[in-house]
Amino acid sequence: MTRTKGILFFLFLLFFLSGCSSPGKKKYVVGISQCMLDDAWRQAMIREMKIEATYYDDLDLIIKDANSNNDTQIEQIRELIRQKVDLIIISPFQSEPITAVAEEAYRSGIPTIITDRKVNTDQYTSFVGADNYDIGYAAGKYAERYLSSQKVSILEVWGMISSSPAQERHQGFMDALKQAKKEVVSQKVEGDWLYRVARKNLKEVQQVEQFDLVFSHNDMMAIAAREVFDSLDTRASKIPILGVDAVPGAGLEAVADGRINASFMYPTAGDVVLRTAMKILHGEKVPKEIKLYSSVVGIDFAKAMIQQSNQLLSYQTRIEQQKKTLDRLLHRFNFLQNSLFIILVLMVLLILLSVNVFYINWKIRRKNKELREKNRKEEEQRRKLVSLNAEIERVTAQQLQFFTNVSHELRTPLTLIIGPLDHLISAMSESSHLPDLLLMQKNANRLLLEINQLLDFRKIDTGQMNLRVHEVNIVAFCQEVKSYFESMARVRRIEYVFENRMALDTFWIDTDLIEKVLVNLLSNAFKYTAEGGWIRLRLEETTDQIQILVEDDGTGIPPEALPYLFDYFFTEKNRAGSGIGLHLVKEFVELHHGTVSVESELGKGTTFTVSLQKGHAHFPDEVLSKQMETSLSYVPSQLDDSTEKALLGQQYDETILLVEDDDEVRTYLQKELQENFHVLTALNGKEALELLDEKEVSLILSDVMMPQMNGFELCRQIKTNVSFSHLPVILLTALSDERQQHFGLSGGAEEYIQKPFYPALLKLKIIRLLEERKRLRAHLLQELHQGNLLLTVPEKAGGPENLFLHKFIRQIEEIYTDPDYNIEKLSDTLGLSRGHLYRKIKELTGTTPVDFLRNYRLGKAAQLIRQHTYSISEIAYMTGFSSPAYFSKCFKIVYGITPTEFQ
Ligand code: FRU
Repeated sequence: MTRTKGILFFLFLLFFLSGCSSPGKKKYVVGISQCMLDDAWRQAMIREMKIEATYYDDLDLIIKDANSNNDTQIEQIRELIRQKVDLIIISPFQSEPITAVAEEAYRSGIPTIITDRKVNTDQYTSFVGADNYDIGYAAGKYAERYLSSQKVSILEVWGMISSSPAQERHQGFMDALKQAKKEVVSQKVEGDWLYRVARKNLKEVQQVEQFDLVFSHNDMMAIAAREVFDSLDTRASKIPILGVDAVPGAGLEAVADGRINASFMYPTAGDVVLRTAMKILHGEKVPKEIKLYSSVVGIDFAKAMIQQSNQLLSYQTRIEQQKKTLDRLLHRFNFLQNSLFIILVLMVLLILLSVNVFYINWKIRRKNKELREKNRKEEEQRRKLVSLNAEIERVTAQQLQFFTNVSHELRTPLTLIIGPLDHLISAMSESSHLPDLLLMQKNANRLLLEINQLLDFRKIDTGQMNLRVHEVNIVAFCQEVKSYFESMARVRRIEYVFENRMALDTFWIDTDLIEKVLVNLLSNAFKYTAEGGWIRLRLEETTDQIQILVEDDGTGIPPEALPYLFDYFFTEKNRAGSGIGLHLVKEFVELHHGTVSVESELGKGTTFTVSLQKGHAHFPDEVLSKQMETSLSYVPSQLDDSTEKALLGQQYDETILLVEDDDEVRTYLQKELQENFHVLTALNGKEALELLDEKEVSLILSDVMMPQMNGFELCRQIKTNVSFSHLPVILLTALSDERQQHFGLSGGAEEYIQKPFYPALLKLKIIRLLEERKRLRAHLLQELHQGNLLLTVPEKAGGPENLFLHKFIRQIEEIYTDPDYNIEKLSDTLGLSRGHLYRKIKELTGTTPVDFLRNYRLGKAAQLIRQHTYSISEIAYMTGFSSPAYFSKCFKIVYGITPTEFQ
């Protein structure tokens, strides 16, 4: 902005300067006060001044015409003084009246030149003029040639009597005649320097013929005399007349044409006056009196002068024209000069601007370079940071993975501790070692809790913790969780209460996570509450939230620890624990879009408040489960004791194939399972498949991580082989990674059980699976008996096993009328070995393929008997029995009555 302003100012200055043609050169103003301008003499003087002025380009003239009036002249001189002209030239009208104003001009500091007529003072700078006495004297001398006699009669035509030239010319003239010893008789005629006045007064003169000569103070009055004399028609026209001035355009012509006998040059000298003025203005010294010289002008001289004057006039005209041309050229030169000046200035400006632009450009380039360098350094630094970060992340991930793996590994031995411990505790309820065993159990469970928390932390950290939200009876749920600590409260005589201040009873939560939250908060409360203290689990509600409060009157938490309480790995001084528990509490609650807060006072107690939103609009659809959650998974003791005992007290006929590479776990599990089932063992998947080829197995229980063939691969092989695909598979592993669970389940495993597991829970799951199978088989047999199997097993009834069964039954349907058809043929058609077909059909239907075919024939026969269309013998052959007797025998075995009785 400042730069633009500067440029504009510069341009303005440029145009201003270019407007002045000669900057710095002073112009002089010269004021000229002329007493009159209506006669040739004065006009000649002014013309000469003007011509002279053209030689100076620093000069201006102001010309004033006083019109033969003293007062006017005085006023005009004063005006020039007021204008502060540089110099005043005064040509006075009358000497006396003008003297004062001439002095005034001089005293005001303006150089003053007096010309022609005089003033009665010496207060002027210079006087320029001829000596009028000398002129009169020369005229007197010249007159002698016309005055032969001693006694002469002269007619003198005076200029203004009071003017100095008139008096001086008269005096000079008389003195010359006197010197010539003439006896002069003269008559005076007043002409006032003017043709008009002289002519009038001359007409009044009597006896003009008596005069020998006329001396006129100027040519104009001389001409008037000639004209008056000529008009008289006497010898008067012969009287010689002398005049003064001899200026072209007046007296000079009169001399040349003989009207005047001679004239005496009275120089106008305008050029001399102006040159003197310029000298003064330029500081040069000039004489006080500059005398102009006169000479007599006779007829010949006059003619020559006229010629010369004309010549001069023509020169002057040409000079003036040339001057005009010169002015024009000068004007153009000035214009070009100014233009050149502007161009030069613009060029300088352009150069300056270019330099400026280059400079700015250079600065920008330098700045850009610096910026690029800075950016490059920052980018390098960022890249280093990123790679450092990646390295840190990689190392951290490795450490955490190691940590997770170790935790998983710890679960297996824990299984082997907690399982047998449970057994021992129930077997040694009367023993004196029971307190020790209980202590061991408590600590093993604590260890398990810590490990589980670590794994949960890892899941949260890797974003694998997925919610499964159910609608639960929140009051029952809280009471249930509260009950885990009942016995502890009893032992430590802690007043342990549950308060429900809510009207609401069902609520949407992930029971597993909120159970962990409450267990954590309650176990914390128990940890820091002394014997005889109190702990309260309280439920409250607001319009859109419920609050679960865990309060205690324990030791309290120091205020400085409160802000960090939910940070992971934060452990407060003097407090045990890994520092994960409360962090998980916060994470789990936040997964529910809830909040957890704490209030505590040292020595008074602590209150944790979990606030959860009502309804389920804040959960995405995919985490919502429509099933109402009824049981908790924390400990097996929540199951109905009596049912559990009844189920686990039985011996089952089914064979379980246990696949486990760890000797100790395998032995322990084998021992556990053998209490209820037949057990076959294999060390890996490969061995298991070999066993399946030979043995009759109802369920496979397999570890996942095994050499040679792992559990996932085993499961995949079983489920894709039609010989075994009907067998249920339970995968058992220490890996709790959800993705692995999904992988196991999508590979076809019926169950996926995490170590450590409660053997009872595992066995109950096995029993439930086997019972399910049994129910299916019973249903199938019932359908078979009723002979409507084909109708009830539609092709699209999902599951590969149903499809297989359907295919099998269709085959039976096609061949059952053929008494020669045997099972070998059937196994060929279905693409299974006889043994596999046998075991598969046995497993799926509970009967052997041969029995199944026979029962199918009997079912069909029963249907036909009901129709009363055919005889029993016909029906026997129609349904593929080799003889009616064999048919009757088989029928009686299955239906308990003979076909005839049935009919
Ligand atoms: C012009 C004039 C001249 C004369 C001079 C004297 O006005 O009358 O003819 O010589 O003045 O001042």
